[in-house]
Amino acid sequence: MISKELIMEDLKRNMTQKRFAHTLGVMEIAVALAKRYGVDVEKAQLAAMVHDCAKDMPQDEQLNLARQFGILLDEISMAEKALIHAPLGAALAKIKYGIEDPAILRAVKVHTTGDPKMTPLDKVIFLADYIEPGRNFPGVDRLRKVAFEDLDDAVIMACDSTIKYVIEGGRLLHPRMVEARNCLLLEKLKRGEKKWGG
Ligand SMILES: [Fe+2]
Ligand SMILES: [Fe+2]
Repeated sequence: MISKELIMEDLKRNMTQKRFAHTLGVMEIAVALAKRYGVDVEKAQLAAMVHDCAKDMPQDEQLNLARQFGILLDEISMAEKALIHAPLGAALAKIKYGIEDPAILRAVKVHTTGDPKMTPLDKVIFLADYIEPGRNFPGVDRLRKVAFEDLDDAVIMACDSTIKYVIEGGRLLHPRMVEARNCLLLEKLKRGEKKWGG
């Protein structure tokens, strides 16, 4: 793996100023959430650092690279091309920066849609991306509070809010986000934290 300093330099060169500021915000919150929930802070910081490393590439280039790397893109990701940067970012993090840790690469890969079997690190990155200080949407302050009280509740709230937003915009909803939400809700039901049908 190349050093964090070199990764940061590369990101700064290849990202818009806005995206770089977002990345710094996600790193800050990912570290805070990792500390709160006993997640490996180093891994959280590194995953946050590279999570959007592919996002500012032109979309046709993203598509070409994804093909080149053998990333299988489902129909929905082909139609909603903003989804491509997550799996592509994971591949780039490995190839370009030499990050090999599967837990980090996985967190990058699932940061946009979530995943039915999210690890605590996945959840930390998913949420940090959602609530970093630069984010501003109705309900963000409540989500910021819940994120430090109950990780799963916060991920469910973030999914709910994205699902509503995507539907209101008439766009395609990736089933993985629905699966992520349902899995977390089912786990809560099984733990008795939530009543069936209520
Ligand atoms: Fe992203
Ligand atoms: Fe992001």
